[in-house]
Amino acid sequence: MKICRRETFNAAHRLFKQEWDDAKNLEVFGKCSYPNYHGHNYALEVWVEGEIDPNTGFVVDLKTLKHIILEEIVERFDHKNLNLDCPEFKDLNPTAENIAVVIWNILRKRIDDKFKIEVQLSETEKNKVSFAGL
Ligand code: NI
Repeated sequence: MKICRRETFNAAHRLFKQEWDDAKNLEVFGKCSYPNYHGHNYALEVWVEGEIDPNTGFVVDLKTLKHIILEEIVERFDHKNLNLDCPEFKDLNPTAENIAVVIWNILRKRIDDKFKIEVQLSETEKNKVSFAGL
């Protein structure tokens, strides 16, 4: 059984590699490489897979999952500049892929190992990435 909680946060970023010049960054990262940063409305889905607890009828209590996501992820990233404010991205390009891996690693420490977790992250209405561990 899989359950999901969706939360949203807004954050700014810039995708670029220091070792590349502006033209190469623009070619690879497009508008996301503009030097003055820009925002995205991120939509995060956290999927938890496991057995239904016969006592509660839940896999995990979605209220508990919501609080973990708010505490660990939304508080940390909402209205932040990911490149400048968040040490997680000091040396890591804040692509949707890398953000999803960072989020997965944070949540993995907070959710019992008996559950599989998958993080899905949308940066726009049209793009979505998914990470469920290696
Ligand atoms: Ni962007």
